[in-house]
Amino acid sequence: MRKGIILAGGTGSRLFPVTLGISKQLLPVYDKPMIYYSLGVLMMSGIREILLISTPQHIASYERLLGDGRAYGISIEYATQSEPRGLAEAFIIGAEFVGANPSALILGDNIFYGAGLIQLCSDAATKKDGATIFAYHVRDPQRYGVVEFDAHTQRAKSIEEKPTKPKSEWAVTGMYFYDEQVVDIARGLKPSRRGELEITDINSAYLQRGELNVEKLGRGFAWFDTGTHDSLHDAASFVRTIETRQGVKICCLEEIAFDKGFLTADEVLSRAGELGDGSYSDYLRRCVSDVAR
Ligand code: G1P
Repeated sequence: MRKGIILAGGTGSRLFPVTLGISKQLLPVYDKPMIYYSLGVLMMSGIREILLISTPQHIASYERLLGDGRAYGISIEYATQSEPRGLAEAFIIGAEFVGANPSALILGDNIFYGAGLIQLCSDAATKKDGATIFAYHVRDPQRYGVVEFDAHTQRAKSIEEKPTKPKSEWAVTGMYFYDEQVVDIARGLKPSRRGELEITDINSAYLQRGELNVEKLGRGFAWFDTGTHDSLHDAASFVRTIETRQGVKICCLEEIAFDKGFLTADEVLSRAGELGDGSYSDYLRRCVSDVAR
C-alpha cells in the first residue's frame, strides 16, 4: 500500500506576525484549515495511511484537529522535525512508517485544484516504478525547483532548485510520488549550500536513473502556494469564488472519504452531528442526501 507523508513544518516567517502563535498550515484558507487541501489530495489519490510531520511546538495542534484520522476513514500518525533541515528529511523521519512501500509526499501549504486532478493523482499513485512529479507554468520560476524539458522528446532534462537563471518557466509543485527506493536515496543525500536536504536532489537522482516522470499541470489547473500574505489571500478568494458559485466545496475531507468509500453515509452524518449547526455540517448532510452527485 502506498503511504502518504504531509510536511507541515517551517516557521512561516514570511507571514509574521500571523504565524507567531499558530502553525502556518493551520491558518484558514476560506472555510477550512490549510492542511485540509493537501490531505484531501492524498485521499483523492487513494492513500489512507498518512504520516503528518510538523515542528515539536505545533504537532499537538494537528493531533487536536485531525486525531487518528478515523473521522475521515483513514489513519494518521504524527512525527516531528526539530529543525528545518529540508523536505527530503521527511523520508528519513518517516523511514519506518514508509517501510518497503511506495510513498507520496505533499507539502501542507500547497493547494491544487482542477478537473482531472483525481485521475492524475490516482494514476501517479498506482504506478509501480520510479517517481512522478508535477510541473506548473509560473511567472516567477526562480522561487521554485525548475524543470527543463528536452525540446524534442518533451522529457525532463534537468531540475534545479531556485536557480537565479531558470532554464524554463515550469516550477516543480509540492506533490511527489516515489517508489520504494526513496528512503535510501534520501539517506544518501548531502545538505545543499543552504544547509538542507533538498527534494530536488531526490528528483535529480530519479532523473539520472531514467526513472523520473514529470507531468505538466496545464492551464486548467490552479496551483497555489500560500507562503505570503498575498498568495494566501489569493488562494482563499479563489476557493470562495468557486465554492459560492457552484455550491460545492473544494477538499471537504468527509465528502472525499464518502466518494472514495472510506466512510459510509451514516458515518458522514454522525460526523456532521459532531460538527454542530454551521454551514460545513449542513454541507455534509447535503452530500449524503444528494443521490444525483
Ligand atoms: C520547496 C521545494 C521546491 C518546490 C516548492 C514547491 O520549496 O524546495 O523545489 O518547487 O517547495 O512549493 P520551499 O518551500 O522549500 O521554498
